[in-house]
Amino acid sequence: MDIARAQEIFEQLYSGFSGYDIARHEKERTGLQEAGTTYGEVVAPAFLDVLNEAAPQAGEVFFDLGSGTGKATLLAALTFPFSRVVGIELFPGLGDAARKVLARYDAEVRPQLPAEYAQQRIEFIDGDFLEQDLSVADVLFAHGTCYGQETMEKLTHKLEELRPGARVILAGQTIKTPAFAFVKMKVMRTDWGTALATVYRRQ
Ligand SMILES: C[S@@+](CC[C@H](N)C(=O)[O-])C[C@H]1O[C@@H](n2cnc3c(N)ncnc32)[C@H](O)[C@@H]1O
Repeated sequence: MDIARAQEIFEQLYSGFSGYDIARHEKERTGLQEAGTTYGEVVAPAFLDVLNEAAPQAGEVFFDLGSGTGKATLLAALTFPFSRVVGIELFPGLGDAARKVLARYDAEVRPQLPAEYAQQRIEFIDGDFLEQDLSVADVLFAHGTCYGQETMEKLTHKLEELRPGARVILAGQTIKTPAFAFVKMKVMRTDWGTALATVYRRQ
């Protein structure tokens, strides 16, 4: 879909609530206060610019690892004809917010879209991305500036299970494994500042 139209829809869907407030509440409720749960969100043009570097193809599958209120997931769905987009989020309160936005999207936006977008499978899963099957993904994004060393080591092993040709976009992190080739590095603006986003391709 045209980026200007996607951004207009996106802004309407996300007006009126704050992922930061929900994340703060979830941290207090669960007691999970470690750095890895630090909240932050993508901003549309900068995220789409970086996603474009991963060269998404029609019919591919997109995963957002730590999806918050679903902004990156829905932006990916709105702008590229992925067949399936999946957000995985540790805090159920953030997952609930993403599912509410998705319900609005299904009711108000999806019926007006061309078939390749109207038929997309969009899901938000509650849980730890380290415990999910990521092997079906073609393009994965992780806005994980605050993910700790242990998480990144475990995630790197999981990413090695991806099929050759799969692309991984890491914002604020890099991976060191011969299983991945470097594609591109870009400064990505976010709603909290800037992160270095690196695109890799599974060898
Ligand atoms: C910086 S936010 C990014 C939100 C969204 N992807 C975006 O860019 O707008 C990182 C999110 O990852 C979640 N998170 C951290 N560790 C996780 C894990 N192991 N499994 C699933 N989600 C996790 C946090 O709760 C937080 O919501």
